[in-house]
Amino acid sequence: MVWLLKVACLLFLQLLYCGTCAAQGSTLFQDAAAVISFNDSTQSVQVFYNTSVLITGDTIASIFPAADNFPLPVNTSIIPAQGKIISPGFVDTHRHLWQTAFKTLGSNTSLAEYFGRYGEFSLTKTVYTPQDVYLGQLTGIYESLNAGVTSILDHSHHTWSTETALAGLEASIDSGARVWWCYTFHNLTNATWVASYDREAQVNDFLSLSQNGPWINSSVVSLGLAYDGWTVESPVLVKQIMDLAVSQNVSAVTTHYLGGPWNYANSPTVLNNLGFLNISIPIVFSHASYMTVQDAALLRSTNQYISITAESERHYGHGDPSSPYIMDHASLGIDTHFTYSADIITQARLWLQTVRLLFYAQVLGNWQIAPNNPMSVNQAFLLATRAGGLALRRPDIGVLVEGAKADIVVFDGTSPNMLGWADPVAAVMLHSNVGNIEHVLVDGQFRKRDFSLVVPGNYSQTAKDFMASARRIQSIWEQTPLPVLQGAWPYQAGVNYTDAITVNVLDGSSNGYSRDSSWYESGSDFNY
Ligand SMILES: *[C@@H]1O[C@H](CO)[C@@H](O)[C@H](O)[C@H]1NC(C)=O
Ligand SMILES: *[C@@H]1O[C@H](CO)[C@@H](O)[C@H](O)[C@H]1NC(C)=O
Ligand SMILES: *[C@@H]1O[C@H](CO)[C@@H](O)[C@H](O)[C@H]1NC(C)=O
Ligand SMILES: *[C@@H]1O[C@H](CO)[C@@H](O)[C@H](O)[C@H]1NC(C)=O
Ligand SMILES: *[C@@H]1O[C@H](CO)[C@@H](O)[C@H](O)[C@H]1NC(C)=O
Ligand SMILES: *[C@@H]1O[C@H](CO)[C@@H](O)[C@H](O)[C@H]1NC(C)=O
Ligand SMILES: *[C@@H]1O[C@H](CO)[C@@H](O)[C@H](O)[C@H]1NC(C)=O
Ligand SMILES: *[C@@H]1O[C@H](CO)[C@@H](O)[C@H](O)[C@H]1NC(C)=O
Ligand SMILES: *[C@@H]1O[C@H](CO)[C@@H](O)[C@H](O)[C@H]1NC(C)=O
Ligand SMILES: *[C@@H]1O[C@H](CO)[C@@H](O)[C@H](O)[C@H]1NC(C)=O
Ligand SMILES: *[C@@H]1O[C@H](CO)[C@@H](O)[C@H](O)[C@H]1NC(C)=O
Ligand SMILES: [Zn+2]
Repeated sequence: MVWLLKVACLLFLQLLYCGTCAAQGSTLFQDAAAVISFNDSTQSVQVFYNTSVLITGDTIASIFPAADNFPLPVNTSIIPAQGKIISPGFVDTHRHLWQTAFKTLGSNTSLAEYFGRYGEFSLTKTVYTPQDVYLGQLTGIYESLNAGVTSILDHSHHTWSTETALAGLEASIDSGARVWWCYTFHNLTNATWVASYDREAQVNDFLSLSQNGPWINSSVVSLGLAYDGWTVESPVLVKQIMDLAVSQNVSAVTTHYLGGPWNYANSPTVLNNLGFLNISIPIVFSHASYMTVQDAALLRSTNQYISITAESERHYGHGDPSSPYIMDHASLGIDTHFTYSADIITQARLWLQTVRLLFYAQVLGNWQIAPNNPMSVNQAFLLATRAGGLALRRPDIGVLVEGAKADIVVFDGTSPNMLGWADPVAAVMLHSNVGNIEHVLVDGQFRKRDFSLVVPGNYSQTAKDFMASARRIQSIWEQTPLPVLQGAWPYQAGVNYTDAITVNVLDGSSNGYSRDSSWYESGSDFNY
C-alpha cells in the first residue's frame, strides 16, 4: 500500500511539474547493500540495507526495499548495485578552484609565504590568462568530481579582469558540478602597481554577470559574492558590497576569517555590527580560526556557518583552535587544492581525529583516562555532507532522502580496503579512498560512471591543454625567488615573523632540530 501511495504521488508530481519527465529519464540503483540516508524525526544518520534508489530528472524520487515490487517509470535505466554503498554527494564550502596549475609547488609553503606567492594579489594577477584560469578551474573541479565532491562553494578570486572572471565562471558551468561561484571584489592596486581592473570595473562586471551571465541557464551553478575587505576598506565601499549582495540576491556570501595574530578579522561580530549577518543570504566564514565566544553565539542566533578546512589549517598553520566548539554551525572545505588532497572525506577524517585528540587530551592532561570517544563517524559524515548543504541554506543538498537533489556517490563496498564492513558510514569515513568511487551523479546526471569521469568535450585534449598551461605557469614561479619574510607581520601591529622549529628525520642528535631540545624537555609547548 505504501508504495502504491508513493507511485500515485510520484505520477501526480510528474503531471504537476513536468510534462516531459519521461524524456528527463529515470535511473534505478537496484539493490544496494546500503544507502546512507537521514531521518528528520531523529535528526540522525539512517542506513537502509538491501535498498534501491530511484532518480527521476534531478531528484531522488524514491528509496525503497529492494525486495518490493516497485513499479518503475517508463524507460528507467537499471544499474545493479549489489555490494555498493550509496551516499549523498560531499559538500565543499571553501575553495579557490583556479589554482590547479600550482600543483605540488606549495608542498612546503606556509600561509605567510602563500599570501605573497600564490594568492590573488601575487604575480598571479599579471601572469594568468583567461585560458589558464579556465583550465585550472575545470581540472580542479574534475579532481573533486572524481572524488565524490558534488557541491563546491568557490571563493573565486581569479577576478583580475573581465576576461579572467568570465573564464572561471564558464569553466564552472562546463564542469557539470554544482558550484556557488562567488565573484570576488578585491583591491588589486598595491604600493607599486596600479590595476586597471578597479572597483568600478568590478562592479560593472558583477552586475552584468548577475543579470545575464552564462550561469542564468544553468540548473547547478549560481552566483555568489566573496569579499575580505570588511575591516580595511572605507564604510562607503563596504556598504556598496552589502547593497550589491542584497540587490542581486546572491546565492551566498563568503569571507576569510582568521583572527588571532593573523588579524584578518572578517568575523560574525564585524558583519553583525554592519547589520549584515541576520539576513536571508547564507554567509560562510572560512577557517574562523580564532573565532570568539561572541562570534559563536551570533552564528547560532543568525543560523550562519563556518567552513573548517582541516588540511589547509594544518598545512599552512592558520590553526583552528576554536572550531571544535562550534561544530553545530560548521561545514567542511578544501581551500587550496594545489597543496594537498581535494576530497572531502580526507578533510573529514583529519578533522574527526583532530577533535578526538583535543577532547581526549583535556582528560589526559589531568592524568585521567576517557573511556568514551568524543566524536562519532556519523557526526563526521554529517559535517561532510548535510552540514554543507545547511551552510548554504539548501536542505535539499547533502542528504539522500526522497525529494532531495540527486547528487549521489556510489562506493564499491567490495574493494579490498572496504571488504568486510558492517557499518557503511564507518566504511566510507575511515576505510574508503577515491579509487572506490564507482559512480558520481550531480543533479541526476552521471559525472563519473564505472570509475571514469564523464565530462563534456574531450578529456584528453583538456588534459593536454592544461599541462601546457601548468608548465608555463610553473616555470615562471620556479624562477621567482621566495619572498623574504622578516620583521613585522604587516597586518597587525605588534606581531612579528618568527621561524617555527624545523625537524630533520635523518639526524638523531638534538641538533637535527633547528632549536635545542630544552623546549621539549620543559614540556611547555606540549599541548594540543
Ligand atoms: C526511451 O528511451 C529511448 C532511448 O533512450 C528513447 O529513444 C525513447 O524515446 C524513450 N521513450 C520514452 C517513452 O521516453
Ligand atoms: C525515522 O525514525 C523514526 C523513529 O525511530 C521511525 O519511526 C521512522 O520510521 C524513521 N523513518 C524512516 C523513513 O525510516
Ligand atoms: C541483505 O541481503 C543479503 C543477501 O540477500 C542478506 O544476506 C542480508 O541478510 C540482507 N541484509 C539485511 C540487513 O536485510
Ligand atoms: C621543500 O623544502 C626543502 C628544504 O627546504 C627544499 O629542498 C625543497 O625544494 C622544498 N620543496 C618545495 C616543493 O618547495
Ligand atoms: C604589486 O603588484 C605587482 C604586479 O603584480 C608586483 O610586481 C609587485 O611586486 C606588487 N607589489 C607589492 C608591494 O605587493
Ligand atoms: C586600493 O589600495 C591602494 C593602495 O593601498 C589605495 O591607494 C587605494 O585607495 C585602494 N583603492 C580602493 C578602491 O580602496
Ligand atoms: C539562456 O537560454 C536562452 C534560451 O536558449 C538564450 O536565448 C539565452 O541567450 C541564454 N542566456 C545566456 C546568458 O546564456
Ligand atoms: C532570493 O533567492 C532565494 C533563492 O536563492 C529565494 O528563495 C528568495 O525568495 C529570493 N529573495 C528575493 C528577495 O528575491
Ligand atoms: C534575526 O532576525 C529575526 C527576524 O528576521 C529575529 O526574530 C531575530 O531575533 C534576529 N536575531 C538576531 C540575533 O538579531
Ligand atoms: C581527443 O583529444 C586527443 C588529444 O588531443 C586526440 O588525440 C583525440 O583524437 C581526440 N578525440 C576526439 C574524439 O576528438
Ligand atoms: C617585534 O619586533 C620589534 C622590532 O624588532 C620589537 O620591538 C618588538 O618587541 C617585537 N614584538 C614582539 C611581540 O616580539
Ligand atoms: Zn581560502
